[in-house]
Amino acid sequence: MIRIDEETKIARLDTPSTSYCLGLADGRYLGLLYYGRRLGTELPGDLAELGRLLKPHDTQPTPLENPGQKLTFMNSYPFELPTWGGGNFHEAALDVRTEAGQNGLEMIYDGCRVFEGKKALPGLPASFGGSCQTLEIDLVDPGLSLRAVLSYTVFSDTDVITRSMTVKNEGTAPVTLTRALSASLMLEDRDFEVLTLGGSWARERRIMPQKLTYGGYVNESLRGESGHQSQPFLCLMTAGTTQKSGEVYCMHLVYSGCFLGKVQIDDQGMAAATIGIHPENYEWRLDPGEAFTTPEAVLTYSAEGLGKMSRTLHDFYRCHLIRSPYLHKDRPVLINNWEATYFDFDSDKLLSIADAAAAAGIEMLVMDDGWFGRRNADTSSLGDWQVNTQKIAGGLGHFAGEVNRRGLRLGLWIEPEMVSPDSDLFRAHPDWALQRVHNEPAQGRHQLVLDLANPAVVAFLRETLDGILSSANIEYIKWDMNRALTDYGSPYLPADRQKELAHRYVLGLYALQDHLVSSFPDLLLENCSGGGARFDPGMLYFSPQIWTSDDMDPVERLAIIEGTALLYPLSTMGAHVSKNRNDVTGRTTAFADRAVMAMLGTFGYELDITTLTADELAQIPGQIARHKAVAGLIREGDYYRLASWRENGDYDLVEVAAKDGSRAVAFLFEVLGRPNMRSRVLRFEGLKENSRYEVTADGRSLGAFSGAGLMYAGLALARKRGDFRATFLEIRECSE
Ligand code: GLA
Repeated sequence: MIRIDEETKIARLDTPSTSYCLGLADGRYLGLLYYGRRLGTELPGDLAELGRLLKPHDTQPTPLENPGQKLTFMNSYPFELPTWGGGNFHEAALDVRTEAGQNGLEMIYDGCRVFEGKKALPGLPASFGGSCQTLEIDLVDPGLSLRAVLSYTVFSDTDVITRSMTVKNEGTAPVTLTRALSASLMLEDRDFEVLTLGGSWARERRIMPQKLTYGGYVNESLRGESGHQSQPFLCLMTAGTTQKSGEVYCMHLVYSGCFLGKVQIDDQGMAAATIGIHPENYEWRLDPGEAFTTPEAVLTYSAEGLGKMSRTLHDFYRCHLIRSPYLHKDRPVLINNWEATYFDFDSDKLLSIADAAAAAGIEMLVMDDGWFGRRNADTSSLGDWQVNTQKIAGGLGHFAGEVNRRGLRLGLWIEPEMVSPDSDLFRAHPDWALQRVHNEPAQGRHQLVLDLANPAVVAFLRETLDGILSSANIEYIKWDMNRALTDYGSPYLPADRQKELAHRYVLGLYALQDHLVSSFPDLLLENCSGGGARFDPGMLYFSPQIWTSDDMDPVERLAIIEGTALLYPLSTMGAHVSKNRNDVTGRTTAFADRAVMAMLGTFGYELDITTLTADELAQIPGQIARHKAVAGLIREGDYYRLASWRENGDYDLVEVAAKDGSRAVAFLFEVLGRPNMRSRVLRFEGLKENSRYEVTADGRSLGAFSGAGLMYAGLALARKRGDFRATFLEIRECSE
């Protein structure tokens, strides 16, 4: 709910358990009064009282009170939109270069309005309604006739507030935006720590808490995508925050390109955080009458630690961001041939996999990289999206028929954004690749990046996708992207718009994916980027699942799952049972243990099923049955991170509980066998104290226990012998 005090203009935005309050200094400067735990029931006059309690600016005189000391005010006021050049030396969220070649501006309050619902953001993925209200606040620089509309949406069913900004040129001269970030939070520093996710290929989204000290902390991507190395996410938390306790402020950006997240602890005891499009290598020319809209930032506050933050984000993304018709449906159990064959396959080989897969109860075959052009290695053919009939005899339509005849659906890998220098496409259109006039563009995995800022390229890709999907019964697409962007030069854009390229690329990508999912509404889209380099809320808007990592080793996955599930629902995480020994780590683990861990996601297989032992093959129907029995719960339930190997050096324990507390599943993974230790005591969450639950471990009943007992006393479970051992626990409410 949003309320505004007409006289003071103090605005209070309430979610079920948080409040966000804005105020004005001198009737001009918009600042953050308060963000935190909900301020209780609303009383008449409480907004004005809030203004007295928490003056947006309490120690320094305002510019009206002491014009001669304006600079001191500007540097210490908690601006909602910090701008460059007027004395606020924190990371600015807005800056322009004027026709006079000068930078900087001062944004003054110019009115606000509240409406039911939420507007779409042009060309950008963004959350959508349900029951929500939006507050738009106008700020203007009168000298420049530049207006910024700050947009805040409050959802009645979740503790999220979203923010974005539209900047409009209402003047008669062009201006150039040199930065436009999505959200800033200027809070009083409470000994905050910062938490981000970082990593690398095959080690994505490691949780990285760090102490914040005086100065700045930066989390960024300049790779044209969110990247293996970073996540468009910043979280400030009070010292000692755990899963269950501590105050947490989270900012997550619905964006898939270069971003900046930055926190500064300043000399005044302020923690200034901001997130948005990276200002490095960014400009946007605004001619008179034109507007620019930033991506959306998702803000949430938790007074109950990180666990509450995760569950809020999971619910928010499930209810307000992911649009796919598959969101609430069981996904097909698929088998992907990448690690089974790499490039070395033909339709006979794939159909032999399909035969064995169908017999085991698998539902879809995904043909990965290598089916087109002359693609027998990663050195050629991206861009030449014609099926290679030497490998796939009879073409895609025929092959799909053969796969369907075996009772499987067909999925296909594609990497539309890329071009191999050794391709007919590149030979015909060398100017379609990103490149600078004065450099040979750098190849990565022997490939170049197509210029998605060029509408002709986007049109070509749209036709290519339409052609492939209309040519055969393809029900799933894995959309890959296997290198970062470099050589930011567009042969298409004029010289004064080259710095628009990185963002225009992302807009081109979004337009393509939007076209794909609206033209083929039944298609299941899984995004991917060299493993999990583009796992971000922007891509989730288009695909209900994203390939989490090329690392399917169950031990390495523990940290990847922990980091990814900090922000994303388990239903979004592409997860396959991989082969033995693992190609990435060289580790050997048992088939059954790998299968348990793959249930913490979409569940599928990525191995040559024709080479499994009879014992392994015989396990598959049972694994699929178990997955299906809990898939709905894992998809829709509440996630609890009960123990972390990263923290305890011993084991992981994850639970998913039904929202009504009637059931739960838990996944225990013991990394190394340890002799001569007591049983492990597992304490669960999200159950009903006074109900009884039957508990099974790997299908074996352990008896019935009370919810209170399972949550507070805990369940003692003997440790398994051996290394890398998974246990699958089911907890079901029963009458006795
Ligand atoms: C990326 C993906 C893999 C596979 C290969 C194919 O690395 O993450 O799963 O599709 O590309 O080249």
